[in-house]
Amino acid sequence: MKTLPDGFRHLPGYLDLPEQRALVEDIRAAVQAAPLYTPEMPRTGKPMSVRMTNCGALGWVTDRERGYRYQSTHPATGRQWPPIPHRLLTIWREVSGASVEPEACLVNFYDDTARMGLHQDRDEQELSAPVVSVSLGDTCLFRIGGTARNDPTQSFRLNSGDVVVLGGESRLAFHGVDRIYPGTSPLLKSGGRINLTLRRVTLPGSGV
Ligand code: SIN
Ligand code: MN
Repeated sequence: MKTLPDGFRHLPGYLDLPEQRALVEDIRAAVQAAPLYTPEMPRTGKPMSVRMTNCGALGWVTDRERGYRYQSTHPATGRQWPPIPHRLLTIWREVSGASVEPEACLVNFYDDTARMGLHQDRDEQELSAPVVSVSLGDTCLFRIGGTARNDPTQSFRLNSGDVVVLGGESRLAFHGVDRIYPGTSPLLKSGGRINLTLRRVTLPGSGV
């Protein structure tokens, strides 16, 4: 068994079913205010298979012209992102070990065929705070490697209610989602998987 990067934690079943249901309701309300949209890869404009939106002062977005970045408004509506639900702030406080609050919550929605290629989360100025990730709905096959693209990787399933913390060495580990297992959770009426990633973006004191 290879070792996972230092600072990586997988907390299976961190949220029980009532907590998962309540969180889905929070996200439903956020998506009403900030609809899911299809992001584009930088330069090529190729659509991603995952649909996205955000909560928080800052949201992660990408399009052909301007690439990966954080901004305070939804690219389609021009409105500010809705606030991060309290339930997620509580999870962050419980598991992150960070003294700062998260500023961004990226909401990823995966349908049965969506996936996410191997990448690093490195668009943040603050890299000492971890990325905290919450999985809801169908199970996925998650892959994680080291800080170099060609480092060996390990794969395992993330189920509904699991929380993952990418801290320490693993903060810049390559990771991705190879596949969704349709029909593995009754949580979302129409199936699919929601992943929520909480991040601190700016350095404390630098202002948003
Ligand atoms: C991400 O890296 O943004 C998402 C990871 C996941 O869906 O588990
Ligand atoms: Mn990521």
